[in-house]
Amino acid sequence: MTEPLLQVNGLTRVFGGLVAANAVDFSVLDGEVVGLIGPNGAGKTTVFNMIAGSLAPTSGSLRFRGEDYVGTPAHRMAQRGIARTFQITSLFPTLSVLDNVKLGTHRHKKTGWWGATVFSAAYRREEQEVDDKANAVLGFLGLSDKGARIAQNLAYGDQRRLEIAIALAAEPVLLLLDEPAAGMNPDEARRLTETIGRIRDTGVSVLLVEHHMRVVMGICDRIIVLNQGNKIAEGTPAVVANDPTVVSVYLGRGATGA
Ligand SMILES: Nc1ncnc2c1ncn2[C@@H]1O[C@H](COP(=O)(O)OP(=O)(O)O)[C@@H](O)[C@H]1O
Ligand SMILES: [Mg+2]
Repeated sequence: MTEPLLQVNGLTRVFGGLVAANAVDFSVLDGEVVGLIGPNGAGKTTVFNMIAGSLAPTSGSLRFRGEDYVGTPAHRMAQRGIARTFQITSLFPTLSVLDNVKLGTHRHKKTGWWGATVFSAAYRREEQEVDDKANAVLGFLGLSDKGARIAQNLAYGDQRRLEIAIALAAEPVLLLLDEPAAGMNPDEARRLTETIGRIRDTGVSVLLVEHHMRVVMGICDRIIVLNQGNKIAEGTPAVVANDPTVVSVYLGRGATGA
């Protein structure tokens, strides 16, 4: 059997006396959309940040593409193929939509400042490639006609799509999305579900932290449920939705179905 794209084992994070993530195990396979759900404070963002490399685990292991990477900084993991969005929006609000996406491509730039300084042919070629790539990503997200707009002037749903565009511009193998549907209206959420499906169709795996149950149930191949730092269930949407423990701690209350 080939190794999963991402393997999480015994992942634990303690904040003071609080165990925010307690020996969490799961994997993400190639081309899979995996949901990470649970009530507020369950430890979703904590697990997400450890996987992204922006929060050090207290203990446990993380393997990506067959290599252990605990202790490797987030920007290095981004270069290896893990891209993320943030729960709090992370756009450069006063830059254009296109420039925001171009900034997302930068890990692939080869020409350094010296190239830019003398405006070498290689630099100009690279600039053109970055432009083309950024425009292609905007097209993929349905934002082609908004490239020249200032990011902060976009409608809320488009801003959230722009965040995904920025993450995709880095050409990840694994895309981590933290509550991408937060604050979206039902139309925007439907569109997001469809977009995540198309991202998977390109071969990118997705780990999706989300409260919006229609999005989660509509797109995930597998769902992991956390509660108070512990994994309490794992399975297909149908299995998880009918799990009595999951229903009693989460689906019966905190989750939104709009
Ligand atoms: N930096 C931190 N310092 C102290 N406690 C934290 C920190 N980050 C998260 N926590 C706590 O860890 C628990 C899990 O938080 P979090 O991972 O944000 O949950 P979720 O994303 O599922 O809502 C919460 O009780 C939260 O207050
Ligand atoms: Mg969170």
